[in-house]
Amino acid sequence: MKAIVIENYGGPEVLRLKEVPTPSITDHSQVLVKVRATSVNPLDYQIRRGDYTSLFDLPIITGHDISGDVIAVGEAVKQWRPGDKVYYSPRFGGTGSYAAYHLAEESSLSRMPDNLSYEEAAAMPLIGGTVWEMLAVRAKLKKGDTILILGGAGGVGTLAIQVAKALGAFVYTTGQSILHEKLQLLGADVVIDHHKKNYVEEIQAYTKGKGVDVIIDTIGGSTLSDSPLALANYGSIVTLVDIAQPQNLIHTWEKNATYHFVFTRQSRDELHHITGLIETKHVKPIIDSIYPIEDVRKAHQRMEDTKRDRPLFGKIVLSL
Ligand SMILES: NC(=O)c1ccc[n+]([C@@H]2O[C@H](COP(=O)([O-])OP(=O)(O)OC[C@H]3O[C@@H](n4cnc5c(N)ncnc54)[C@H](OP(=O)(O)O)[C@@H]3O)[C@@H](O)[C@H]2O)c1
Repeated sequence: MKAIVIENYGGPEVLRLKEVPTPSITDHSQVLVKVRATSVNPLDYQIRRGDYTSLFDLPIITGHDISGDVIAVGEAVKQWRPGDKVYYSPRFGGTGSYAAYHLAEESSLSRMPDNLSYEEAAAMPLIGGTVWEMLAVRAKLKKGDTILILGGAGGVGTLAIQVAKALGAFVYTTGQSILHEKLQLLGADVVIDHHKKNYVEEIQAYTKGKGVDVIIDTIGGSTLSDSPLALANYGSIVTLVDIAQPQNLIHTWEKNATYHFVFTRQSRDELHHITGLIETKHVKPIIDSIYPIEDVRKAHQRMEDTKRDRPLFGKIVLSL
């Protein structure tokens, strides 16, 4: 089968299209899936450039989202049969989704929503599980809460805005001016241009000094230190970004705040909630662009290169 293989760590040029053996079922609980589409996540380029060398051995097939068709099932598999359409995030640390076929455990798979194409479905599994974990499980977001989503135009941000709105929250987000209308159409009540304004000052002004109940951090940097200044008393900050630097958390203490650190791994139960929101039309996949898998290098460049000709909005999808 064809696959994108990483044999050395480095830039997008180390992503190479190769022929590799097609996997076959070796265990009763396994399912073989024909991959129809996958997507690019920052985790893919982080693995490609060598951020997780202790967790992987070269060569690596990366990729963390799959939509596709069940081709074959092991003898003990009860839930799936050939022809079923599925979507899921491969197990972290195992073989990824940048390949024509993928072998998974029965328990990893979710039924693909009826109203999505393969490309739309491939935009959802990793961010879907992540966003539900952040908003519903950790922050326990509820009707009437106020939330600030930092990085609203990214893959995580575009979904987080929609889910926060569906849960009944008042949504502040950050995004470039050119994207403000699009972000409002997703459900953002207030959009702050992070290239022109200081979000702490803006939130202080909008909330008359009270701050927001929940802050979602998809950007890292000094957010853990600074964002408590935009937080209400007893609020929560949920972060996705690992920062190997000391942080001054004094403002967190003053706010009686709670931090939640999220690193998504297996996320099938959380993804089921997103499937429900997709099928009731509360949430839709936002696709920035679709590349054939052969153009995976261009797709990585678009995600990594911050000097883009047009800003990123949603997910970059790879079709097979
Ligand atoms: N821990 C986990 O389980 C987990 C899961 C998923 C994702 N993540 C992490 O979460 C982060 C976001 O993922 P993603 O898929 O949403 O990435 P993405 O699609 O690349 O989005 C990044 C967005 O952040 C914005 N941004 C960058 N710097 C900013 C700043 N200083 N202030 C406000 N916005 C800023 C960008 O806007 P501009 O275009 O204006 O720069 C862009 O819209 C990544 O670091 C990823 O590794 C972690």
